[in-house]
Amino acid sequence: MPDQAGGYTEYGFVAEFYDYVPGYRERRDVEFFVAMAREAGGPVLEVGCGTGRVLIPIARAGFEIVGLDLSPSMLAVCRAKLAQEPSEVQARVQLMEGDMRDFDLGREFALVTLPFRPFQHLTTVEDQLACLATLRRHLAPAGRLVLDLFNPSLPHLVLSERLEEIGSEPAFILPDGRQVVQRARVAGHDYFNQIQYTELIYYVTHPDGRTERLVHAFPMRYLFRFEAEHLLARCGFTVEALYADYDRSPYGSKYPGELVFVARRSAG
Ligand SMILES: C[S@@+](CC[C@H](N)C(=O)[O-])C[C@H]1O[C@@H](n2cnc3c(N)ncnc32)[C@H](O)[C@@H]1O
Repeated sequence: MPDQAGGYTEYGFVAEFYDYVPGYRERRDVEFFVAMAREAGGPVLEVGCGTGRVLIPIARAGFEIVGLDLSPSMLAVCRAKLAQEPSEVQARVQLMEGDMRDFDLGREFALVTLPFRPFQHLTTVEDQLACLATLRRHLAPAGRLVLDLFNPSLPHLVLSERLEEIGSEPAFILPDGRQVVQRARVAGHDYFNQIQYTELIYYVTHPDGRTERLVHAFPMRYLFRFEAEHLLARCGFTVEALYADYDRSPYGSKYPGELVFVARRSAG
């Protein structure tokens, strides 16, 4: 499938499955991002907001939030969910279709977040620099950026050059009765550019027994801790905290854990 923008591949059919996938439903990051919004106390910008998994709880908690995403299908699901919310929650949300590497909302935010790794869809340093420069322009002088990445596991990277599918997640059922099982595989690995060619595979069984195998294939770039720190410094950010998990356990307390950077604009 051709890239539409850098390493980006449209989420397409994934949008209607996304909120039902057990591994996404069970992510324990929402409370962390809501708490960050509470600490910021001001408007939030979520970049790569997807279906609003994190955005809607932040709006429910009383904060104004702008969600930006490149995927029309993810945004459509987000809009449909928002339409079910009370009018005061809807009034706090603005959704924008746009590319995280280059957008201009003409305003600054107290908090800018990228929950669940949208930044890793960028596969070149040029794109990463363009994105961070764009995010910095949207951050208020005392605002905070939360850059949410996974910490690449060295043993897993070596093992993951494999073609077999893995996954033991239970099936989920869509409202129309389709039953879906998600599995995953690494279809290729570019060790020089730190890119894993990931495939998320959805086995769908329709109520009439018909079956389908749908594949969402996309490159993911992994970043190591010091690389990400240098990148942030190069783009005018000072790292304030680095967490290994959304319970704010510090980097180094578990392996591989996450790489959750909290950064501020550097002076100057
Ligand atoms: C794993 S989803 C995360 C969605 C949401 N933040 C969450 O936590 O559930 C990654 C999102 O990043 C979006 N994305 C990928 N590349 C993008 C880009 N260049 N600009 C804006 N959004 C992008 C995708 O469309 C997708 O909705």
